[in-house]
Amino acid sequence: MAPLPLLAAAVIAVVALGSVGAYAAAGQEQEAGGGNDLRQPPVARGLSFDFYRQSCPRAESIVRDFVRDAVSKDVGLAAGLLRLHFHDCFVQGCDASVLLDGSATGPGEQQAKPNLTLRPSAFKAINDIGDRLERECRGAVVSCSDILALAARDSVVASGGPEYRVPLGRRDSPRFATAQDVLSGLPPPSSNVPSLLDVLRKIGLDATDLVALSGGHTVGLGHCTSFDDRLFPRPDPTMSPDFLGRLKRTCPAKGTDARTVLDVRTPNVFDNKYYVNLVNREGLFVSDQDLFTNATTRPIVERFARSQNDFFDQFGVSMVKMGQIKVLTGDQGQVRRNCSARNPGTADGLQWSSLVHTVVDAAAESLGF
Ligand code: HEM
Ligand SMILES: *[C@@H]1O[C@H](CO)[C@@H](O)[C@H](O)[C@H]1NC(C)=O
Ligand SMILES: *[C@@H]1O[C@H](CO)[C@@H](O)[C@H](O)[C@H]1NC(C)=O
Ligand SMILES: *[C@@H]1O[C@H](CO)[C@@H](O)[C@H](O)[C@H]1NC(C)=O
Repeated sequence: MAPLPLLAAAVIAVVALGSVGAYAAAGQEQEAGGGNDLRQPPVARGLSFDFYRQSCPRAESIVRDFVRDAVSKDVGLAAGLLRLHFHDCFVQGCDASVLLDGSATGPGEQQAKPNLTLRPSAFKAINDIGDRLERECRGAVVSCSDILALAARDSVVASGGPEYRVPLGRRDSPRFATAQDVLSGLPPPSSNVPSLLDVLRKIGLDATDLVALSGGHTVGLGHCTSFDDRLFPRPDPTMSPDFLGRLKRTCPAKGTDARTVLDVRTPNVFDNKYYVNLVNREGLFVSDQDLFTNATTRPIVERFARSQNDFFDQFGVSMVKMGQIKVLTGDQGQVRRNCSARNPGTADGLQWSSLVHTVVDAAAESLGF
């Protein structure tokens, strides 16, 4: 495999660190592995690729057209929609609970910490897509959780990333995500690889999924408060000095209310430069940079830095896995008419027994992964 031009810079940085031996060894190991013999993850019981063929045959193209158009006007929306799906799935499963007004990160949540604030434009886009689908298909037939999964995929595509097929048929939960649910489901950006893996293992994801999904940080923004403990009082030694200088210009003191790009090379393009950044010690969060520092995940980072195809293939696989975490299907949950509110007449506690079953089912099924 011919090295990409950009990798030349990466390799030079690695030589400077004195670890070119490890770099080359990892490369050989990956070549020996035979490259991309990726299998698609199993489709969860109750989901299918043609779920809306009868009830809303144009569902996918409606979402696709909307996202393409909206992202062409505001590229940041792609990042907002991708992160919304991630937060949904990591907090009590992909059930659109993140969208509920009253959830700890929901659209009406003014008290959410800066690191938890999701883009208001993304919540609005999901509701607008829901309205369009409801008009087109005469009634609320497409769930908000499916809209989230499709909009995330289409955001990736609209910003230059890979195409992948999304299994459909998720149902929405009537249950809010509490602040406690959110805190325990989402690892903080100060996490290192072992603690990230502890969180992911519980939801059926592994080290390769962690590295691939973190590649979502190839687009979007982060607040100073999410990483300024790497600048003050002492610089994080795993960060490149040039990158440190750059971040200090945006965040001159601890607690500055400003944002910076997650991917310093190509901030608005979904590509593999995020991994080139990590190899050059320009990851924004500890949770990013430790993927390169840690010997378990480093070879995966290096492989994705060398091959955008490898990253794209794995990203599609890992997103399908993430998108099926503890899904509600069949007669569980509901299809919300308004993605920000549970349907009238649904009490929070009513669906408890069905939720408990789903969690048990999901746990049983994740053993099959
Ligand atoms: C693995 C653990 C992860 C951690 C610790 C993490 C942490 C963060 C943090 C702290 C921010 C910035 C929040 C702020 O300061 O405003 C952020 C933004 C973002 N994250 Fe993650 N994240 C993780 C995984 C993911 C995954 C799996 C995806 C999607 C596949 C993702 C996609 C994004 C995107 C697109 C943004 C930018 C959002 C925007 O610009 O509105 N992250 N993440
Ligand atoms: C957000 O920041 C708080 C501290 O302000 C921290 O306790 C929490 O773990 C962080 N969570 C995420 C997901 O970044
Ligand atoms: C790297 O991550 C692995 C897997 O979680 C862990 O066992 C190991 O201790 C980590 N290495 C360091 C130096 O933290
Ligand atoms: C949807 O629900 C939210 C939260 O309850 C509410 O503020 C909004 O007005 C509702 N939208 C419509 C169109 O009913």
